[in-house]
Amino acid sequence: MPIYFAKQAFSGGISWLPDLPDPWTVLKVVVALTTIALLKWYSSGTANTAERQMHGKVVMITGGTSGIGAVTALELAIRGAQIVLLTHQAPSDPFIVEYIEDMREKSGNEMIYAEQVDLASLYKVRQFATKWIDNAPPRRLDMIILCAATLTPPGKPRVLTPEGLEENWMVNYLANFHLLGILSPAIRAQPSDRDVRIIFTTCSSYQYAPPTDDGSMAMKEEYWTASNAYTRSKLALMIFGQAFQKHLDAYKRPDGLPGNTRVIFIDPGYSRTPGFRRWISRGTIWGLALYLAVWQTVWIFLKSAEGGAQSILYAAMEVTLGRGPGGKFIKECREMTYKRADVTDEKVAKKLWEGSEKLIERIEREEAVRRALAKKEQEKANKGGTSYEKKAEPSEPASKTKSRKQKKV
Ligand SMILES: NC(=O)c1ccc[n+]([C@@H]2O[C@H](COP(=O)([O-])OP(=O)(O)OC[C@H]3O[C@@H](n4cnc5c(N)ncnc54)[C@H](OP(=O)(O)O)[C@@H]3O)[C@@H](O)[C@H]2O)c1
Repeated sequence: MPIYFAKQAFSGGISWLPDLPDPWTVLKVVVALTTIALLKWYSSGTANTAERQMHGKVVMITGGTSGIGAVTALELAIRGAQIVLLTHQAPSDPFIVEYIEDMREKSGNEMIYAEQVDLASLYKVRQFATKWIDNAPPRRLDMIILCAATLTPPGKPRVLTPEGLEENWMVNYLANFHLLGILSPAIRAQPSDRDVRIIFTTCSSYQYAPPTDDGSMAMKEEYWTASNAYTRSKLALMIFGQAFQKHLDAYKRPDGLPGNTRVIFIDPGYSRTPGFRRWISRGTIWGLALYLAVWQTVWIFLKSAEGGAQSILYAAMEVTLGRGPGGKFIKECREMTYKRADVTDEKVAKKLWEGSEKLIERIEREEAVRRALAKKEQEKANKGGTSYEKKAEPSEPASKTKSRKQKKV
């Protein structure tokens, strides 16, 4: 019977049915819709199926207010984890207050907090991390998810942080190096039976990065391009992450038990997030208009932020990742191999580690002197000024002020 109807339909229609569209048109529409559905299904990526008891676990996350990081933070909060968001803004900032209230409402979890850490500042990173490790006994910490990142859209000028560092290098790599370096005692102090995970979010573009060397190239304007700056920072993050795993493994615990902290790298895949939108639109209004015009295509070929978060959730909850050696690379909820040998090269890591330490020491020293001078100036102005005078702001070098203005596009 169905074969008879199909045959009738293709050879002139079925007379007793109301006007049907041309069967070829119907077929074309069906084929087109099926193709779109298959493409969408493929580009949505693999869904995480791992689950783990998250109640009582303390998860620290950077970049938890946008895109992939925001989805990850919310999903872990829904599962009962205590979330510590490291945010640009202060916890009292109206955006953060509202954001946390919203997260609490959606997750039914009150244990969501924010701590202000501007990852563009070595000083702010140190201020937060030293405060964290000052706790005695050490605070519980089950997971650190490093999701924050920045990028300079192609065609935009190189951006320096107020401390004079190239922004991609600072936010995507050096801030994480500094943060984990200071938090290291707090991580190593976790009980041996606690499954601690440090999740680094990288990008597949790391494989096209120029060599990291000791990090000095990242600071040189003549070698800078927007894509080099981003890819190099991600490669450096991965090289450092491998070295950090070795640093943790080498630690001899006072109780003689083995350590239980694992570094895991994630490539979330290209996803429709504010960060991606900024990159693809070149940070321009025209770019944004074009992006909106081709949004359907972007929707078909790219994951949502939810899709991008799947591999991170897998790394956070898959039981088998809490066993065996650390340093695994996950993409599409599967373990992958590294595309570059320098990621696991100890000599490369040593050079980068030493170069980064030197750079941080120099900048921290220079900034301490600058802050002390600014404080003195402020005190002088306070003493000498009359009550009608506007109090002087702490001085800031002109070039650094300029770089701040350049930042937002
Ligand atoms: N989206 C993709 O297609 C894609 C592809 C591969 C890899 N990734 C990686 O996946 C991660 C998440 O990407 P995404 O696209 O979801 O990111 P996103 O939407 O651009 O969000 C970036 C996050 O980082 C935070 N951040 C940036 N600069 C900061 C600073 N100086 N201090 C503190 N926080 C700062 C932002 O906070 P504010 O909003 O307050 O600035 C925001 O929460 C990144 O590591 C990215 O490199 C993404």
